[in-house]
Amino acid sequence: MIIPVLLSGGSGTRLWPLSRSVHPKQLLPLTDQKTMLQQTALRLSGLDGVAAPIVVCNEEHRFMVAEQLRQIDQQPSAILLEPVGRNTAPAVALAALQALKVDTKATLLVLPADHSIAHPEALCDAIKALSDHVEQGMLATFGIVPTCPETGYGYIQKGTSIQTSPLPVFTINSFVEKPDLPTAQDYVDSGDYYWNSGMFMFQAARYLEELERFEPEIVTCCHKALRAAQKDLDFVRVGAEAFADCTSISIDYAVMEKVSDAIVVPLDAGWNDVGSWSSLWEIGDKDHHNNVIRGDVLTHDVSNSYLHGTSRLLSAVGVDNLIIVETSDAILVAHRDRAQEIKQIVQQLTSLG
Ligand code: GDD
Ligand code: MG
Repeated sequence: MIIPVLLSGGSGTRLWPLSRSVHPKQLLPLTDQKTMLQQTALRLSGLDGVAAPIVVCNEEHRFMVAEQLRQIDQQPSAILLEPVGRNTAPAVALAALQALKVDTKATLLVLPADHSIAHPEALCDAIKALSDHVEQGMLATFGIVPTCPETGYGYIQKGTSIQTSPLPVFTINSFVEKPDLPTAQDYVDSGDYYWNSGMFMFQAARYLEELERFEPEIVTCCHKALRAAQKDLDFVRVGAEAFADCTSISIDYAVMEKVSDAIVVPLDAGWNDVGSWSSLWEIGDKDHHNNVIRGDVLTHDVSNSYLHGTSRLLSAVGVDNLIIVETSDAILVAHRDRAQEIKQIVQQLTSLG
């Protein structure tokens, strides 16, 4: 049985001013009428043998998460509430321990709740292509052919072929999380590397075994946190003290860089991690001047720009390559090439309190 694990704990600071800690990007309708979480929850509907998902999120977001799933008729098997974020290795450990309570052979499909996938059917095919290998105990990743030396991603070096049909599957020679720019450039030039999509598929028990080997105290803390958990409807509020003791580390650094028998299936599904306003421009529908327009917007002689109004009329004249986002209490104007630096504004805001 495949149990989807929806990771919904990030804060999406590069999508300020729309994404805020009380309303992060995965809970916003950024690319569609549906929120990113809702799109993620519906992504596997074409696949048989998929159980109800486990959602892992911050306790502050519990009502929004439950309501958004209710709106699309998705009943989660549990919503695990983290009192504080401890990154993805502990979040997946909680989900694995929860899954093992219902199925000792559970396979987890870890899905970040803030990605966009244009062709979910290609993801379903990749999942099917991996299932026998995962049943035999492999830890599987989904690799994206890189288009630039992005330093915010993990890089997967493919090894030998272990399957050619219905889809190719390779062993992994090395997994390098977030390399520096010259290294990323070398990887892209070599043609041997994929980007790590951030989605994973493995048996819950196998993940915990590897985590136990590399970060044993995370497993201990998560065990304690679940033992001390309070259940309230679908919500499982994990023990705050035990969970806060977990090391904060991602699954990529804690496990995927270190395991020796991981595999990768190349994925061509129109994947985008919607990390910044420029990626929303890239995946958005363009007008005949190459602009992406959301909301109430008027333009004259504007091109290659992303314009998003939420509460007032937004208008622009004679500009090119801009991001302009309007909300009721903040306006962002940025060059489209510098969308990553919006983090700096959020840092300034945080330090102002
Ligand atoms: N529940 C929970 N708790 N979820 C979390 C937490 C947490 O503490 N921290 C992050 N998440 C969620 C995020 O909301 C996102 O959906 C997912 O886990 C991945 O976290 P990110 O913080 O977005 O990771 P990243 O983008 O820096 O890197 C990962 O994704 C890249 C692809 O987008 C890595 O897996 C990279 O290797 C990968 O290339
Ligand atoms: Mg991300």
